Amino acid sequence: MRAAYISGYGGAGQVEVGEQPLPHVSSGDVRIAMKAASVNPIDWKTVKGDLKALFKPPFPLMLGSDGAGVVESVGVGVSEFQVGDEVYFRCHKLNTGTFAEYFTLPAELVALKPQNMTFEQAASIPLVGLTVMQALSEKGGMQAGAKVLIHAGAGGVGTFAIQYAKACGAYVATTASKKRNDLLHELGADEIIDYHSQNIEDKLADYDIVLDTLGESVHAASYKTLKKGGVLVTVLGIPDNDTIAEYNANFVVKLVARLHNRKMQKRAAKYGAVYKHHLMYASGAQLTEIATLIEAGKIKAVIDSTYPLDQVQSAFERSMTGRAQGKIIIRTA
Ligand SMILES: NC(=O)c1ccc[n+]([C@@H]2O[C@H](COP(=O)([O-])OP(=O)(O)OC[C@H]3O[C@@H](n4cnc5c(N)ncnc54)[C@H](OP(=O)(O)O)[C@@H]3O)[C@@H](O)[C@H]2O)c1
Repeated sequence: MRAAYISGYGGAGQVEVGEQPLPHVSSGDVRIAMKAASVNPIDWKTVKGDLKALFKPPFPLMLGSDGAGVVESVGVGVSEFQVGDEVYFRCHKLNTGTFAEYFTLPAELVALKPQNMTFEQAASIPLVGLTVMQALSEKGGMQAGAKVLIHAGAGGVGTFAIQYAKACGAYVATTASKKRNDLLHELGADEIIDYHSQNIEDKLADYDIVLDTLGESVHAASYKTLKKGGVLVTVLGIPDNDTIAEYNANFVVKLVARLHNRKMQKRAAKYGAVYKHHLMYASGAQLTEIATLIEAGKIKAVIDSTYPLDQVQSAFERSMTGRAQGKIIIRTA
């Protein structure tokens, strides 16, 4: 089968597309004939070697973290899915490779594709959808009526986060360039802060949750928008100590993480707030919940651009600009 992979770390130019063996179907697995997959910054960060401290996968390293397609084969013990089912999924983080004609993964990570979405639209959802649901609901404790600030509302995570928070009954502010206003209003944002000319701390107060997709540079200002006890959930930087412990990281990495997390928590406490890091995880059950919201018309796909499989390099270059509006898609069939 054709697939995108790297044989060593480097830039987007390191990505090759060529023949790779068809993935084996073990018991409990489904093999999916891929239709589309989405590009996430984690894909090119992996290519650059940014995750080496956490895990060192063998080469060739297959690329792509989520996607949508049709079940082509089911392993022993799988009863939830049948050949021909249209599905979407996020792979386990150590088993990437969705920029390919076929992909195999445990059935429990898979869900039926939202019926009102094309494969390309459905492929835009899993990684960002799970990230947002887990960061806002599990880590942030978001409830109806909560005031939520979402940084980078026009990005892959942000466009989903605005819609998800609104679907949960939250009041949503977001940061973006002015040219994104029409889209962000359409997605349901209540307040849009033009980050080029306005300061969030001058505009927003008494927020319950901040979803940080930009990193430490926005933390101090974000804390000033939170009420006492409010939570900043970041999806960037060093994971929390429990998450680090799940990886085979060495002593030095664990120590650096502990020191960093202590510093982040102290800084949050200074503002009377709480700091949390979230590293998303795969879940078929949560994707089924997300599909229900999509089929109810509460969440739609926002697609920046679509590339064929043999142009993964160009898709990565587009993502690396940091200017995508919504998701970048790879058409795999
Ligand atoms: N921990 C996890 O599990 C997890 C999961 C998913 C993603 N992430 C991380 O989250 C980050 C965001 O991911 P993404 O997919 O949303 O990225 P993305 O789609 O590449 O984000 C691009 C968007 O960011 C906006 N933007 C850039 N700088 C901004 C600023 N200073 N203020 C407001 N908006 C700004 C851009 O809008 P303008 O062009 O208008 O500036 C653009 O629309 C990535 O670093 C990714 O690795 C982590």
